[in-house]
Amino acid sequence: MSSREMTEARPEPFDAVDVIRTKRDRGTLSPGQIDWVIDAYTRGVVAEEQMAALNMAILLNGMDRAEIARWTNAMIASGERMDFSGLSRPTADKHSTGGVGDKITLPLAPLVAVFGVAVPQLSGRGLGHTGGTLDKLESIPGWRAALTNAEMLAQLEEIGAVICQAGSGLAPADRKLYALRDVTGTVEAIPLIASSIMSKKIAEGTGSLVLDVKVGSGAFMKDLAQATELARTMVDLGTDAGVRTVALLTDMSTPLGLTAGNALEVRESVEVLAGGGPADVVELTVALAREMLAGAGVTGVDPGEALADGRAMDVWKRMIAAQGGDPDAELPFARETETVLATTDGVLVGLDALAVGVAAWRLGAGRARRSDPVQAGAGVELHVKPGAVVRAGEPLMTLHTDTPERFARAMEALSDAVVIAPEGSSPPHHRLVLDRIYAG
Ligand code: URA
Repeated sequence: MSSREMTEARPEPFDAVDVIRTKRDRGTLSPGQIDWVIDAYTRGVVAEEQMAALNMAILLNGMDRAEIARWTNAMIASGERMDFSGLSRPTADKHSTGGVGDKITLPLAPLVAVFGVAVPQLSGRGLGHTGGTLDKLESIPGWRAALTNAEMLAQLEEIGAVICQAGSGLAPADRKLYALRDVTGTVEAIPLIASSIMSKKIAEGTGSLVLDVKVGSGAFMKDLAQATELARTMVDLGTDAGVRTVALLTDMSTPLGLTAGNALEVRESVEVLAGGGPADVVELTVALAREMLAGAGVTGVDPGEALADGRAMDVWKRMIAAQGGDPDAELPFARETETVLATTDGVLVGLDALAVGVAAWRLGAGRARRSDPVQAGAGVELHVKPGAVVRAGEPLMTLHTDTPERFARAMEALSDAVVIAPEGSSPPHHRLVLDRIYAG
């Protein structure tokens, strides 16, 4: 072979403009086009502006089930796949589409592990108004998020539960694509959200998966129809990939539990693990645990009992200690607090999730850019939930931060968050679990 032949680039089998035109004109992308466009984008051959145009065409014209499955597989193929088949326990994972005060992973992972199921919970950091599981756990002194694959496997075998940072090797195409969607108004495309989430979950190698698809003001999906479509798409993707997958659609019109913020949410999770805690957090933890256990083939057990009798707490302590954390250490408190008082007598009929999430974020619990630090103690602590009778002057919530100059902007976010109606009124009825979507 001549040196010229050795250095000449291989011709590309497709043209990015043709792929964009196919979807722009409401056509179906061929498997070859999809495999190529994801691979070529990851290699830098398809330019950012070309992928942006294709994403917009997908947002406007959609993809069918076969296209979404192929797109997801192409993203999986861009990176490594994990393998839990050597474990002596079945594996079950949970993914939440993100909400305000959603700390369920913390009590859930150890709870499910009590019953001999391994829970590999690869988690992320928060961006925007929804919190990140790793940010929450990092408020525990000494706890570390980064584990090697070998450490993760050993912990799953010995303790049964791991919550750690997802390695950068899983679906790297998704990381690049997500950053592009973020700045091109294409995050909301259901095929792109579903393939983004499921490529990482399938690459992770879990045997079964429970999706908690949030619906309401504090969630990605504001209405039930959209959330149902997203859940159905993800359940189909998981099922087609051989992962036993179900989804619960759950309410996110008001925050989950009484806290939004890192250490505040860890404290509340520990209360749940001690057999107490807010009823909604307990209800959802138990509902998701039942689904995960069923997916892993464990039936006829009562997860609620394992919260009440301390077995889940024992696993929690071992799980935290295995990652360098001190489960008995005092958690950080913010240096400053300010209390929001009821301005009138009546019944609290609305407490908006999005507003509370934005307030917690502005107080320092979340970040605006990936590189920003978070405050461990910052956030919002609720004293009442919708349905409570309140009196003028009574505390509704306490805001926590290390940087008191943040109070004003947090208060602004909360200006329309609280609705108090005359006594005798009742809040709109929202069941916590709205629906269940299973393979079909
Ligand atoms: N979470 C993801 O991982 N991807 C999305 O597209 C949206 C939420």
